[in-house]
Amino acid sequence: MSFTTVERPSARLNRSQLFVPGVRPPLFEKAAASEADVICLDLEDAVAPADKPQARTNIIAALKTTNFGRKSISVRINGLDTHWCYRDVVDIMEQAGERLDLIMIPKVGVAADVYAIDMLITQIETAIGRKKPVKLEVIIESVLGLNNIDAIAGASKRLESLHFGSADFAASARMRTTNIGGSNADYVMLTDKDSNGRRETHWADLWHYPIARMVHAARAHGLRPIDGPFGDYSDADGYNTQARRTAVLGCEGKWAIHPSQVALANAVYTPPLAEVKRAQEILVAMKDGAAKGMGAVALNGRLIDLASIRQAEVIVQQMQMIRDQTGS
Ligand code: COA
Ligand code: MG
Repeated sequence: MSFTTVERPSARLNRSQLFVPGVRPPLFEKAAASEADVICLDLEDAVAPADKPQARTNIIAALKTTNFGRKSISVRINGLDTHWCYRDVVDIMEQAGERLDLIMIPKVGVAADVYAIDMLITQIETAIGRKKPVKLEVIIESVLGLNNIDAIAGASKRLESLHFGSADFAASARMRTTNIGGSNADYVMLTDKDSNGRRETHWADLWHYPIARMVHAARAHGLRPIDGPFGDYSDADGYNTQARRTAVLGCEGKWAIHPSQVALANAVYTPPLAEVKRAQEILVAMKDGAAKGMGAVALNGRLIDLASIRQAEVIVQQMQMIRDQTGS
């Protein structure tokens, strides 16, 4: 390990994050009754400009009256390039009460974007005597944000998670795709010809680079990396495949832009029982090995060593948090 240690991420369950437009209050109760770990009440792109004030009023009322149980509640504010942003922060922070857990900042481009919102929140919390500090989550969804991601990830003690927003990112990079978080038939590789002259087309993951970059920046600062939206909510297989890839890369959860995606996310980002069992076996085998003075041992014909303990602990700890927080 480096002499610089990274503090462990805060233990908030974030497998599924269900978005609800602030202009559809009947959905608030349905979201509250869902199995989502986090609910994000949206003031930004799911709300038309003329409806922003009404959406704020709806969200403030919901935060005071709706029983969201043990779920974490986030509000996505408008970006710092809009004139709605300051009023979102001021009204929500001053009027919504203690139930609010998180504020999500979209389209973060530089660390000072986070600093500015932190400053506003801090002043309001002090002024109103709020007991529990509101935490921050930011969306990386522009090439500017991805370029500055390391500074952004270290910009505030309130920051808990980084999220990847594929649609705005694609627009910002001028990528030739309109798919939200899915595949693209032009982003493929052709294999070399086999002995019969045949070639295969292999679909590739056009989101791999920004998501991997986000995972590494987030983890280097002790934050949770969260995969963003998958727009085609009729395509459960597509969602599942994307989620499984990002779970392997290190993401802790994924957005749900329709309730049908919540169960998919919860299933994928709960470590599979076989993985948990193997992790537990590794810890037992390494403990036995240590008792015999061995740092590397064999388990089922495969090498495990001290690094395996750290890999196994990640899985076991994640599973323990899920059990603690879901009571299952
Ligand atoms: N939260 C909670 N419940 C929701 C919901 C949500 N986001 N979206 C839909 N539902 C409910 C519907 O009310 C309906 O309930 P019912 O069976 O009791 O009638 C059920 O789930 C099925 O909904 P469906 O008819 O398939 O969807 P819809 O046409 O009403 O809405 C969307 C589809 C995509 C417009 C809607 O899901 C939505 O607004 N999602 C969030 C979008 C968002 O916030 N985007 C910003 C982040 S990218
Ligand atoms: Mg966006």
